Amino acid sequence: MYEKIKLDYSSLDPYITEKTIYINYYNYYGNYIDNLNKLLIKNNYDYIYSMEELIDRIDMFNLEDRDDILYNLMGSLNHELFFYTMSPYGKNKPIGNIKNKIEEEFGTYDKFREEFIKKALELKGSGYTFLVVNDSKLQIINTSVEDSVLLYGFIPLLVIDMWEHAYYLDYEDNKLDYINNWFKLIDFEKVEKIYNKK
Ligand SMILES: [Fe+2]
Repeated sequence: MYEKIKLDYSSLDPYITEKTIYINYYNYYGNYIDNLNKLLIKNNYDYIYSMEELIDRIDMFNLEDRDDILYNLMGSLNHELFFYTMSPYGKNKPIGNIKNKIEEEFGTYDKFREEFIKKALELKGSGYTFLVVNDSKLQIINTSVEDSVLLYGFIPLLVIDMWEHAYYLDYEDNKLDYINNWFKLIDFEKVEKIYNKK
């Protein structure tokens, strides 16, 4: 069985309140993981691959379940990365290799931040804004609904959940304040780890 990553859902308060995290972590992420496991068991899956590896192997499942498996798989992966890369204790400024790469490609961290915020505000409807590695280059990308950047062969390093359930209770429609406060929660030690593993 795939499991949710652990999270102290009060720890990101006040930037993201306990109530909002609870809804996102249990009602969305939790449901995606539960639905995914149910569908995989129904398909006699033996859990030999990581969730990331399953994206490219979706055709091993019954045709009638593939869309559902893919949707719940991507929803699980998107939320896993979102929750994993936030921490109240983390280094919220880039370090190490990812710091150098961000400066090489965007000029400064502030320029990267500006571009990321601009992109996130351009997103229409529910979706995500990602920082990815695309062919050894960093790129900021929006995806719709639960689409994963893994579908395009990109490596996700960092993501913000831009569905209304992720911010509306705390910020109503003030997406800019949500994004600015999310930047205070980014744990760049974890982003660095993902970047070095890629
Ligand atoms: Fe979510």
